[in-house]
Amino acid sequence: MEPLKEETDVVMCHKQEAANQEGISRRQTLKKGAKWLGGALVLAILYPLLKFVGFDIPKKPQKIRIERDILPGGFYLGANFVAFAGEHGDVWALSRRCTHLGCLVSYNEIQKRLICPCHQSVFSKHGKRLAGPAKLDLPSYKISKAGKGKSGYVVVI
Ligand code: FES
Repeated sequence: MEPLKEETDVVMCHKQEAANQEGISRRQTLKKGAKWLGGALVLAILYPLLKFVGFDIPKKPQKIRIERDILPGGFYLGANFVAFAGEHGDVWALSRRCTHLGCLVSYNEIQKRLICPCHQSVFSKHGKRLAGPAKLDLPSYKISKAGKGKSGYVVVI
């Protein structure tokens, strides 16, 4: 009977060891879960706070190709920008985002002005604020010829 008791003790010892390891593993899993949850909570609090103070994560510059040349005095209306060509071969590009609340401005060819449809802010062809609730000029973008022998331009927004 004695050896049997020893065997039982050994089995009990193995079971206890296995239970202890399972407990440690469960504890480690819970600790990892708590860390992830804490990280997610910090992000959930920080993100709206950073947005509120006006912090923006800088975007990677995007190159947009205009496939055709712009005639002197003409313009090209892109989705997020407008490009103009001057009478002497000069070109420039502006953001279409109104500096008031961000609506997209359109170019009025008759008035030769950029006009915001939301609250009627008016900007010159060079992006200078002329009227309306917007307080700032339109931001400009870098624009250059597409390359030697190619027509069109590349705008970096
Ligand atoms: S968003 Fe353009 S004037 Fe208000």
